[in-house]
Amino acid sequence: MKRFLLLTLSFALLIALAAPAFAAGEGYSDVPADAWYAGAVAALKEQGLMEGMGDGRFAPGNAFTRAQLAMVLFRMAGCPKTEEEDEFTDTQPGMWYSEAIAWAAKYHVVEGYGNGRYGTNDPVTQEQAAVMLWRDAGSYYLGKEYSVDDGVEHIASSWAADGVRWARVEGLFTDAVEFSPKKAASRAQVADMVYRYMQLKEKFASDAVSGATVKPAKAPKAAVIYFSCTGATEKIAENIADSLGADICRIVPAVPYTDEDLNWNSDSSRTTKEQNDPAARPQIANEVTGLDDCDIVFLGYPIWHGQAPKIMYTFVEKYDLSGKTVVPFCTSGSSPIGSSAVNLSAVSAGEWLSGRRFRAGASRESVTDWINTLGLDLEAK
Ligand SMILES: Cc1cc2nc3c(=O)[nH]c(=O)nc-3n(C[C@H](O)[C@H](O)[C@H](O)COP(=O)(O)O)c2cc1C
Repeated sequence: MKRFLLLTLSFALLIALAAPAFAAGEGYSDVPADAWYAGAVAALKEQGLMEGMGDGRFAPGNAFTRAQLAMVLFRMAGCPKTEEEDEFTDTQPGMWYSEAIAWAAKYHVVEGYGNGRYGTNDPVTQEQAAVMLWRDAGSYYLGKEYSVDDGVEHIASSWAADGVRWARVEGLFTDAVEFSPKKAASRAQVADMVYRYMQLKEKFASDAVSGATVKPAKAPKAAVIYFSCTGATEKIAENIADSLGADICRIVPAVPYTDEDLNWNSDSSRTTKEQNDPAARPQIANEVTGLDDCDIVFLGYPIWHGQAPKIMYTFVEKYDLSGKTVVPFCTSGSSPIGSSAVNLSAVSAGEWLSGRRFRAGASRESVTDWINTLGLDLEAK
């Protein structure tokens, strides 16, 4: 669905890619014209997306930093003005990368390491590059073929597996470089991945032009379903529902959680035991309403021990979400959404987007901004 969003970004790109006016390898002393990455390097240079070293070299074998990749994607988006600053502890205002990282964080293209750091000068790894491109594309899923048993989870980090799979299925990884997700990507490989991603966008744009993708005739209907024990997720859920005029329904546990149950420091508390028990399925007391005639389900929960509470599994197994777009969101003390939504989606139907983590008390504006970048034909006010 987010593919529609790409259209707006893609028009200028489409024209630029349709008639490439560059000679492969042009301009860099260390890029042979027949190198596998020469076309990509030249295209990115031509479009002002990725530069050389300033001394006539491109340095294809060098590492590329995480800040530099944020900058490439920021430029690709047209360098939109972003008023807010990012919340990372290792970025500084007024630097060459500040606007790019603030934009990328705002639109959820980057999430950082989950400990408050972005890792500005760290070399970007293959999986990090794949996940950033995946998020830039809206983190869309490719359907059932997407969850094939390809062993990616054994070589990629768990949080990156979906983005890496997407990048593989969409052909963003070249055969010229060993596929090793946790290794640093070279500048040549990053250029190649970005160029392939640009071509992918072009493909979506022409699909839409030829009518291959069709927008729904009427605006989709959304519902917000959430579980919350101490009110943080509830507040975000209410903001979503209110900003969209959507139905909202809380998942109420049959046995309420007491303060003692919620003690995450105790190995013997109810929540710790449930989260450690793969078979735990706490019962739901109420009938969850609003799902029957809705197209998009915003599904919210708090992070418990890095994952969704087990009652969310009870929910997705009990209610059929097939044919619906599922947009997970969560609140947490500090953990990212991580693999929580991916693990839930594995036992659920529906087309799942990658979702978003909010801190408790996140502003309504940050919620509406997020919804309005999902490309869901919804307008949050
Ligand atoms: C049992 C339990 C486990 C938790 N585990 C995590 C965690 O792994 N990471 C984290 O950042 N926060 C963790 N938290 C904090 C909650 O995710 C956070 O307070 C959340 O916003 C609560 O949402 P709620 O008010 O909607 O229930 C945990 C809280 C509880 C009760």
